[in-house]
Amino acid sequence: MVRNDLFDKNLGFDRGRGRLTEAAWRLVSFVFFVTAFPWPSKLKASLLRGFGAKIGKGFYIRPRVNIHFPWKLEVGDHCWIGDSCELLNLEPIVFEDHVALAHEVYMAAAGHNIKSRTMAYANRPIRVCSGTWIATRAFIGAGVTVGANCVVGACAVVIKDVPDNSVVAGNPARYIATREVTEP
Ligand SMILES: CC(C)(COP(=O)(O)OP(=O)(O)OC[C@H]1O[C@@H](n2cnc3c(N)ncnc32)[C@H](O)[C@@H]1OP(=O)(O)O)[C@@H](O)C(=O)NCCC(=O)NCCS
Repeated sequence: MVRNDLFDKNLGFDRGRGRLTEAAWRLVSFVFFVTAFPWPSKLKASLLRGFGAKIGKGFYIRPRVNIHFPWKLEVGDHCWIGDSCELLNLEPIVFEDHVALAHEVYMAAAGHNIKSRTMAYANRPIRVCSGTWIATRAFIGAGVTVGANCVVGACAVVIKDVPDNSVVAGNPARYIATREVTEP
């Protein structure tokens, strides 16, 4: 007997744009964003804005960054996104000002309800507040707000909110210090 697919790919999830726009973005992303070629950040900022992202001034973005839905991305002024970061923004991802992502940071504003047989989505937005640095290979989960002036250590798994001025690290990420900025 053939079983029907239990997985419902659209339950509780608004893609935000039509299929043609999404297809056009995938093509642009393939040529200008996920490629290793170092296209200028200014060009990439313009392309993102053209697809509905809000991008502030002084934006710096490295190659091989995969942004799922630019229309669900908001970036403040003077933010950096490092090589090979992954923004799975099925719900919005917001960076305030002076946010820096190192390499291979994975931000998952998406997930599934583990009680659901149909893999119903449990997507929630992510916010990173001003002055925060997220180090290499950190994972930031759905619904998380990382406060202002924080440091998220390399390979940290952040699944709860991080208070302002905290240094967190580990899996699951735990507070290790208060960040005191004393140097230029
Ligand atoms: C988080 C970080 C900034 C902390 O630096 P620091 O203030 O000098 O911290 P310390 O080295 O004094 O470590 C403090 C404690 O936290 C632990 N710790 C530090 N970083 C950690 C990490 N990424 N994961 C788990 N534990 C960590 C240390 O083992 C130490 O624990 P202990 O007190 O039990 O010995 C740093 O460890 C880090 O992860 N840097 C990322 C570098 C990086 O990604 N570079 C490339 C991109 S620019």
